[in-house]
Amino acid sequence: MSRLVDRFSRSLSYLRLSVTDRCDMRCLYCMPEAGEPHEDRPEVLTFEEIHRLVRILCRLGITQVRITGGEPLVRRDLPILIGMLSKIDAEIEGRTDLSLTTNASRLAPLAWELKAAGLNRINISLDSLDPDKFHRITRGGRLSEVLAGIDRALQVGLTPVKLNTVVLRGINDDELSDLVEFAVSKGVTHRFLEVMPLGSVGIENRDRFVSAAEIRQIIERRYSLVPLPFQNGSTAQEFQMAGTTAQIGIVSPVSERFCSTCNRLRLSARGRLQLCLAHEDGVDLKGPLRQGWSDAELSDLILETAYRKPAGNHFAEDPEPVYQIAMSGIGG
Ligand code: 5AD
Ligand code: SF4
Repeated sequence: MSRLVDRFSRSLSYLRLSVTDRCDMRCLYCMPEAGEPHEDRPEVLTFEEIHRLVRILCRLGITQVRITGGEPLVRRDLPILIGMLSKIDAEIEGRTDLSLTTNASRLAPLAWELKAAGLNRINISLDSLDPDKFHRITRGGRLSEVLAGIDRALQVGLTPVKLNTVVLRGINDDELSDLVEFAVSKGVTHRFLEVMPLGSVGIENRDRFVSAAEIRQIIERRYSLVPLPFQNGSTAQEFQMAGTTAQIGIVSPVSERFCSTCNRLRLSARGRLQLCLAHEDGVDLKGPLRQGWSDAELSDLILETAYRKPAGNHFAEDPEPVYQIAMSGIGG
């Protein structure tokens, strides 16, 4: 069977699967305070529909599936979906790595169930260690719930746990070393991200941008960092923290793109296959699915759409943020 490959000969093996575009937080860099307009529930793919599309995608070469949102844990019965997806391995005689990105507000009570259902590992957003600041960045999030979620994820073995911080000038750029220290103390990897000018909140965040080079400088005031070799498909420059076993990563979608080795596709909660987070191009799979297309027909549509994946983003060159797709809609 043909494999997923694009016109630049990039093999596409990593799927970001959004299961909802709803969220119980409203992070400054992601969603407007009032939230994004949501359509009715029937627009969202059912678990059976997701399972069918993911199985087809895995047959075509996807080996890593990351569940995202919105906030994926607000989707009811998510462990049931995870159980269904974790069995795809056996169905296609392949190996699929199943992970989840979450804000962790609801993680603590669910972590064990997620692990038991077959989830392998987890990424958790953590933008501040100060409860008030955390509340301000997430517009309502409670830090204590997230910290409990991190501990629980470690206890049940959803490892390696990775923490993500979007760096915002004047907001959390004074906390980077504290966040590194926290990660070292927990024995987890921490990643710092440049903020991308996405969606309706893109303009508000332009002045808050801190480059990867500056993030590195700030951290190096307290820690020495040894760069590790770049791994294809990764979006981060990884560093070893001298004198420890800990690593940190800096993700630079704006200042240093990793687009030439990008291996990603995205499937939105509404069933749209999206080729790049900075381009509208993609295809609706839900319509064909509900019209009764066969697996072979859906495979052909997916392969021909993936082939035209755009070369990359233009965050650095474009004078204004023109990307209207919000992260909450396409899953980060
Ligand atoms: N820029 C960078 N990262 C973002 N995320 C969401 N919006 C943005 C943005 N504008 C990432 C954050 C968050 C995850 C769900 O998506 O890392 O933790
Ligand atoms: Fe919700 Fe995540 Fe967006 Fe924050 S970044 S508003 S937690 S989807």
